[in-house]
Amino acid sequence: MEKIRNLINITDLSAAEIDHLIETADDIIADPEKYQDICTHKILATLFFEPSTRTRLSFTAAMMGLGGNVLGFDQAASSSTAKGESVSDTIVMASCYADIIAMRHPKEGAPYVGAQYSSVPVINAGDGGHFHPTQTLTDLMTIHRKMGRLGGYTIGLCGDLKFGRTVHSLIDALLRYDDVRYVMISPEELELPDYIKETLERAGVEWKEVRSLEEAIPELDILYMTRVQKERFFNEEDYVRLKDSFILTRKMLGPAKETLAVLHPLPRVNEIARDVDEDPRACYFYQALMGKYIRMALILYLLGIK
Ligand code: NCD
Repeated sequence: MEKIRNLINITDLSAAEIDHLIETADDIIADPEKYQDICTHKILATLFFEPSTRTRLSFTAAMMGLGGNVLGFDQAASSSTAKGESVSDTIVMASCYADIIAMRHPKEGAPYVGAQYSSVPVINAGDGGHFHPTQTLTDLMTIHRKMGRLGGYTIGLCGDLKFGRTVHSLIDALLRYDDVRYVMISPEELELPDYIKETLERAGVEWKEVRSLEEAIPELDILYMTRVQKERFFNEEDYVRLKDSFILTRKMLGPAKETLAVLHPLPRVNEIARDVDEDPRACYFYQALMGKYIRMALILYLLGIK
């Protein structure tokens, strides 16, 4: 029997596999009709133990775009978890009903554990403050479409670098591409975790930490904004103090490069002012759209559908 492929961490995929997914997603965008019935009778289970709008909807839209069906739940309270069921039992049960599972959980490592019990592929749709590999695929797809390459630029990562799982997975992915320089923009309390700083050091890449978004902006080719992750704070006071640390406004884009791409995994709270939306450099809604196509490509790949 062929080994089941899961996606728990972005590094579960080789750079060549990521290229293949991007190529497939490009082809889907060019000719969506070719793919619209390719997953007929296939079922995706979305097991979301933690709230989500974009990730769950984009997985659902992706499976529907392939002609497949979707079942699942969108909060732990509406699943048997509320009755005390373990993650492993929920996964075993779901893999009886579905061909592939996308799972989000507030506990780091839960999708990895779930995958050990599943008889179908499991995709980590975000585990606590840990990783979010399908957001990273979305980010890479956006960078590819907007810049035509995956390396050779300076990227600023701004906001909650401590709890922001999308940042952690994105760094893991970008370390594979040549000539990427990193500017980490955060308050001291929300700096990258030490284990990620060590990864950057080991990789020998050019990176620095700064406290001012304004000062960083002129040198950036990509600005990746993130929200302060309220749900991972231990007390409300710290959240309130830090939540508006960085607010990108259109005025601040004055000295930015014409070709800058502003990304954000969304949801946005206050960190990007509405007036930025009209600027051609704002790519975050386009990015949300790319999330659907790259997830279509991923579902096909993990199901082994050519
Ligand atoms: C991100 C997440 O869930 O980590 N959102 C998403 O998946 N698009 C970012 C966030 O919640 O801030």
